[in-house]
Amino acid sequence: EWTSESFIETTIAGLKEKLGDDKVVLGLSGGVDSSVAAVLLHQAIGKNLYCIFVDNGLLRKDEFESVLDSYKHMGLNVRGIDAKQRFYDALAGLTDPEKKRKAIGRVFIEVFDDAAHEVQDVKWLGQGTIYPDVIESVSVKGPSATIKSHHNVGGLPDFMKLKVVEPLNTLFKDEVRRVGRTLGIDDNILGRHPFPGPGLAIRILGEVTPEKVAILQQADAIYINNLRQGGVYDKVWQAGAIYLPVQSVGVMGDERTYENVVCLRAVESLDGMTADWCHLPYELLAKISNEIINNVKGINRVVYDISSKPPATIEWE
Ligand code: XMP
Repeated sequence: EWTSESFIETTIAGLKEKLGDDKVVLGLSGGVDSSVAAVLLHQAIGKNLYCIFVDNGLLRKDEFESVLDSYKHMGLNVRGIDAKQRFYDALAGLTDPEKKRKAIGRVFIEVFDDAAHEVQDVKWLGQGTIYPDVIESVSVKGPSATIKSHHNVGGLPDFMKLKVVEPLNTLFKDEVRRVGRTLGIDDNILGRHPFPGPGLAIRILGEVTPEKVAILQQADAIYINNLRQGGVYDKVWQAGAIYLPVQSVGVMGDERTYENVVCLRAVESLDGMTADWCHLPYELLAKISNEIINNVKGINRVVYDISSKPPATIEWE
């Protein structure tokens, strides 16, 4: 019978033998998989694991700081890199969703490659790949697609020539969570909703600007906090707010306003391949809507997405 304890024991022994005194570089995303992979590697090789966590300016509100803090508390050797402006510059003027994804993937590779070069004599690239990623080798979206399209133009970045170590590549998601729990990783990291690599850039329809990111971060934070306080966060598979490039008329006092619309999305799903929209309580939706409209400057209307996948996707881009 599979147990997380025996998995951890044999994996750490195997990693020690395989890696010896070699150095490993690993990109943390704040998600479950990369975090669990990092803690396993850390327990095997300690300070020879160099973690890199990139702030692409497209994360949730205060996420970079709080997740970086959790990583440091776990004892990980982690370097946080503020690359916000590089991502915003690359996104300026882009409206096509796939062009936005490619730009983000390209900048991520550049930033990560620079950081990896600073680790002397690094031999390995650690990755949080899990079993479904291995079998799902054809992915339309996702970082691998971006990396592939990057190859075609410029050849491999150096970190991709490293040998790859993937301690989770035989596990399913629920097993990764069990391993993470046994390793003592924070529930705040283990229980979090999936979040796409391109982040808020694909939840801001059309061109991404730092101003729109700031507005969406505020609305999204109000939304997610209310899901937590309302006790429904763990029942929802994934949730997020979307910034629509649409203005509508509203009133405030005696004034007419003409401001943007935020859409709330929440879905139930097993694997993201199909999804149903969540029947969130009306009272909760009302509270979220009021809080967003009263507190987020630039938003005067909130709508709720009642589309299931298929035919709608979870993200709007
Ligand atoms: P869709 O929108 O295709 O999303 O129904 C299914 C799941 O995939 C996530 N997603 C992405 N994840 N890079 C990622 O790492 C991407 O470009 C990307 N696009 C969608 C989405 O958040 C959902 O969990």
